[in-house]
Formats: sequence, C-alpha cells, structure tokens
Amino acid sequence: MTESIVINEVGLRDGLQSQPKHLTLYERERLANALLATGLRHFEVGSFVSPKAVPQMAGTGDLFARLQAPQDVHFSALIPNMKGYELARAAGLETVAVVVSATETMNQKNINMSLEDTLSVAQAVIQRGRDEGARVQAYLAVAFECPFEGVTPSSVVIDQAKQLADWGANEIVIADTIGAANPAAVRGLMDTLVVALGSERLACHFHDTRAMGLANVFAAIESGVRKFDSSVGGLGGCPFAPGAKGNVATEDVVMLCESIGYSTGVDMAALLKAVDVVSELVEAPQGGRAHYWLSNNVAA
Ligand code: COA
Ligand code: ZN
Repeated sequence: MTESIVINEVGLRDGLQSQPKHLTLYERERLANALLATGLRHFEVGSFVSPKAVPQMAGTGDLFARLQAPQDVHFSALIPNMKGYELARAAGLETVAVVVSATETMNQKNINMSLEDTLSVAQAVIQRGRDEGARVQAYLAVAFECPFEGVTPSSVVIDQAKQLADWGANEIVIADTIGAANPAAVRGLMDTLVVALGSERLACHFHDTRAMGLANVFAAIESGVRKFDSSVGGLGGCPFAPGAKGNVATEDVVMLCESIGYSTGVDMAALLKAVDVVSELVEAPQGGRAHYWLSNNVAA
C-alpha cells in the first residue's frame, strides 16, 4: 500500500488572515466548500483571536457552524490564549492549535505576551485539553528565524518542543513563519526531533518566501515527517511578522508528494478549481510555483 502524507490546509486561517480584502462569512464558507470538494481532510478553519488584532478572522465559530463535512474531516482553529480555547471549544472545535513563538520579541509582537507567559498559557491549554478530551496542537513559530531576533538556535526549538511534548501536546508543529528555513537546517532540526518525539507527533509548516518551501517539505519528508501545513494557491503571510509571504502552496505539496510516491487523497483538478475560487474571492491571482504547468496539464 502507498504510504500517505497528511496535508493540513491552512488557507482559511494563515491564508486569509493577512489579506487586504476581508472576506465575508459567506465568502469564507464558499472557499471552505471548494476545499472540502478536493479530498483534503484536515483544515485549519480560522482562529479565535481578538477581532481588533485580526478582523479577517472574526466569526470563525459561525463559519464552523455553517460547514457540513463528512465524519472523517478534521478541523482545528488557532488560539492565542485561554479565552481562545474557551471560544473554540464552545463553538464545537475538538482540536485547537496554540501558538508559541520560539523567541521573546515575536511573542510580544504577535500576542503581547512574554515567552515565559506564552509557555505557561500553552501548558495550561494543553492540560485543559487533556482533562476535557480535546486535541491540542502546539505550534512553534519562527522556529528557524525570527524577523526581530535573527536565526533561532535549534537547541532552543528542540528544548521547547520537548517541553511542549512533555506537557502532553498531541502534536508539535514546527513553523517557519517567515520562510527563512533551508533544507539543511530542516534536516538538522527534524532528524533530531523525529528521534526525540516520533514522527507521528510532528508536523511542519513552511512559507515559500524564498522559494525554498517545497525543498523544505522534501527535506522534512526525508527526516520522516508525514504531516504538512500548506495553503491553497500559496495564499498568505503573517500580519505580525514582516517579510512573511504565503505558505507553501497546497497544489505544489500535493504534486511533490504524489510524484515521489506518497498518496495525499487530493483530487488535483478540484484543487485547481479551489485556487480559482480563492483568486476570485481575494481579487488577486493566486497559485503555487507549479500553477502554470498544472493548469495546462491536469484534466479538468
Ligand atoms: N478571542 C477573542 N477576543 C479576545 C481573545 C480571544 N482569544 N483574547 C482576548 N480577546 C479580547 C479581550 O476580551 C479584549 O476585548 P475588549 O477590548 O473588547 O475588552 C481584547 O481582546 C484585548 O484583550 P487583552 O487581554 O487586553 O489582550 P491584548 O490587547 O494584549 O491582545 C491578544 C492579546 C492575544 C488577544 C491579541 O494580540 C491577539 O488576538 N493576537 C492574535 C494574533 C494572531 O492571530 N496572529 C496570527 C497567528 S500566529
Ligand atoms: Zn504561517
């Protein structure tokens, strides 16, 4: 049987949160439905954050309530604090994604908290998730480089990842928030983490800022990682991390994985239709590195 790679579509959150055009709930629902039709089974549906900080994500609970998805579809939502946990759980989310930035300054800029406080909040969220039967993913943002502090030492990330795992996080997601990683750095870090935590507890989140997104995905696959975040059409960025561009594009990741022999369960023709939908909604053409070739070679 072909080995699979799980793709977690984050366009509805990481993709939309930085768009100058703020989509309505109806438009977000339309995009979600186009994505649900692709065979993707893991989605970050939005975030429960201050609507003053990120107005694009207001109403994530209402969006989630409107979606009708098959039983095998998994939704998560990003949360910055315990209030976010409570709102996400009240909306019916069974998986939350708590974000810790590896550096002091990035935590301050992103969520107005010190690194120490962010780690305490993450610990409390993980514990509460365990008590209440919720799944908690812990994101380690700026895991390779911070826009404010420069290169993040891998020893720092390894210690934080082990700490989050010890507290009981179900999954640790190593995030290259500004797209500054390279395949050698990815191999170095992920080889160590796969040995320390096991590949089933790890995922990677790459941005394509410097055109190394896919190379980084490949490096992480070589290390044994089998779960990746990506966003439809490469949509995205981070409003709090200067220089961050979109996530590695879902269609590029699907193409890479399938071409080297892994199955993703994704229907490329349907995914290309979802790219068209997102381009129409944000009123700007989207598409990954292989968009031109895929558009001309995949039968609709
Ligand atoms: N969801 C919704 N509202 C929230 C919230 C949450 N998780 N956490 C706090 N709030 C509200 C508070 O109730 C308060 O509302 P009010 O002004 O109407 O009283 C307001 O947000 C400010 O709360 P406060 O506790 O003073 O926090 P802050 O101003 O220091 O902001 C965050 C901290 C975390 C709420 C804010 O920085 C944030 O939401 N950041 C999200 C960043 C993000 O999404 N980054 C991209 C993904 S990594
Ligand atoms: Zn991101």
